[in-house]
Amino acid sequence: MKVLITGGAGYIGSHTVLCLHEAGHDVVVLDNLSNSSVESLKRVGELTNKCAQFIEGDIRDEQLLNRIFNEHAFDAVIHFAGLKAVGESVARPDLYYDNNVNGSMVLMRAMKAAGVMRLVFSSSATVYGDPASLPITEDFPLSATNPYGWSKLMVEQVCRDAAVADENWQIALLRYFNPVGAHESGRIGEDPNDIPNNLMPFISQVAVGKRAELSVFGDDYDTHDGTGVRDYIHVMDLARGHLAALNYLPKQKGCEAYNLGTGNGYSVLDMVKAFETQNQVPVPYRIAPRRPGDIAACYANAGKAEQVLGWTATMTQDDMVRDTWRWQSHNPNGYK
Ligand code: NAD
Ligand code: UD1
Repeated sequence: MKVLITGGAGYIGSHTVLCLHEAGHDVVVLDNLSNSSVESLKRVGELTNKCAQFIEGDIRDEQLLNRIFNEHAFDAVIHFAGLKAVGESVARPDLYYDNNVNGSMVLMRAMKAAGVMRLVFSSSATVYGDPASLPITEDFPLSATNPYGWSKLMVEQVCRDAAVADENWQIALLRYFNPVGAHESGRIGEDPNDIPNNLMPFISQVAVGKRAELSVFGDDYDTHDGTGVRDYIHVMDLARGHLAALNYLPKQKGCEAYNLGTGNGYSVLDMVKAFETQNQVPVPYRIAPRRPGDIAACYANAGKAEQVLGWTATMTQDDMVRDTWRWQSHNPNGYK
């Protein structure tokens, strides 16, 4: 297949480009490099002996999109491009709605004009808000607590409504749980700007000596050790989930959501201990107050992805912490 990947230079996108290359697909990447560098794609090229065509540009640039769709006969689009920092989204909601919601609408308009109506969209478990029970299935009520979350929920709604209005759309909304880890080569991985918001990049920056200690946000949650529980999923499992969705889309009718998680919940301290044990490196931490907006626990029922897409996560917690550390220790300054 020939596939357009928006945001393909980013963390999850670059791992997915690698996976698609290995499966024999042709890839064109469109990315404005607002949160990434082309170095990731160069390294994917080295790992797979195959170069994705790279176009530097913005998904909100409708003329550019129309030109790209005129020049290439795409079978599908995987749409990663988006901003993802929750705190920044609270400070600059206009930016998030423009980039994530308006950007997705521009993309879908250009797709429809070109008759390319297979779309895989990067959604998030954040659309479940604070779930009433666990594990979470796709039919749980949806809500959001910040503009980033709303932007994901709004794009989901745009997709559902588009698919009702035009039955030619075939859309997979992939709701990722907590992506972590890196390709096993240690050549590509997550390269956050500034201070990481997310747990695993923070742990690895403490371990490599860039930060003094981890703040564990709250130890009084109703979980097995009082710290927050999440469903961490290896980014290579996630990348393979996109491949599975891509392969299934021609058979799918309309718009469907799929949880991509492992179904396992690990606490913050579980992840710290696994990281220390597997990598034989200390991660100093202190208990800090809860982070506003955090929930106690969140993990997936990923049965629908298994039954429908034939996909299931196969990588373990040890794989996740080992590959995170390989990437971080070999690339202490990321791609810089
Ligand atoms: P990332 O920031 O590494 O990748 C996003 C890419 O999109 C970057 O390369 C960035 O330069 C590009 N981009 C942003 N706005 C663009 C625009 N207007 N036009 C063109 N390119 C643009 O993030 P990621 O972790 O790889 O996330 C990919 C997608 O998955 C995002 O939509 C994110 O919201 C979603 N997601 C991520 C997580 C996570 O924890 N990483 C969890 C759930 C959902
Ligand atoms: C966060 C976002 C969510 C987004 C997801 C994916 C918030 C409130 N939620 O989810 O919208 O979809 O990232 O990237 O920002 N933790 C610490 N210390 C740290 C960092 C995190 O103890 O320095 C804890 C958190 O309290 C949480 C767990 O680690 O219990 C995971 O945190 P994080 O990696 O930020 O992911 P989420 O909060 O699940």
